[in-house]
Amino acid sequence: MLASGRGSNLQALIDAIGEGRLHARIVGVFSDRRDALALQRARDAGLLAEALRARDFDTRLEFDAALFERVDAVQPDLIVCAGYMRLLGQPVVEAHRGRMLNIHPSLLPAFKGLRTHEQALAAGAPVHGASVHFVTPELDGGPVIAQARVPVRGDDDAPALAARVIAREHPLLVETLRLFAQGRVALQSEHVHLDRAPLPAPLQL
Ligand code: GAR
Repeated sequence: MLASGRGSNLQALIDAIGEGRLHARIVGVFSDRRDALALQRARDAGLLAEALRARDFDTRLEFDAALFERVDAVQPDLIVCAGYMRLLGQPVVEAHRGRMLNIHPSLLPAFKGLRTHEQALAAGAPVHGASVHFVTPELDGGPVIAQARVPVRGDDDAPALAARVIAREHPLLVETLRLFAQGRVALQSEHVHLDRAPLPAPLQL
């Protein structure tokens, strides 16, 4: 898993696995920030947790290569970006095509990029939400696997809307990963394919 911040989505997965709601194993949590709360949550759960600082590398490609050398070493079946806030370069994205997911706080293709709750409020969107999608070289542009919707209320500000969305992100991510753990979803060229044969072993994240 990749995470840069608070790690509440990571925590939702740790809890779901611990409670037997998700047949998976988190084999490593990697961050671009040493102070990410996500790393602390991972360590508290007894998981491998590592950070690399981008400023210790000359280019983004070198940083990505070093980070993914560590990620690949633990052999995840799927790489989940859960609040990973650094752009990934094309080489690592292409190398992990169909095996890397991102959770994004909007109903894609609406409101890509940052400050999505502010974007939704500024656009006067009546509904907002979150999406889980395959990572492709286009930022927040890969095929969507699942979405959760929330209403936008007249008196919402960005923090209120963000709180409503994040509460739906957690079950959305767990449910989407359950589909993978059951072997029921895959990327076939540009399309998400559902209903494949079950996988025998726990999904490695
Ligand atoms: C989540 O809202 C996630 O969708 C978003 O960052 C937050 C991380 O929260 N991701 C992005 O904006 C990616 N561009 P968390 O650290 O508590 O899981």
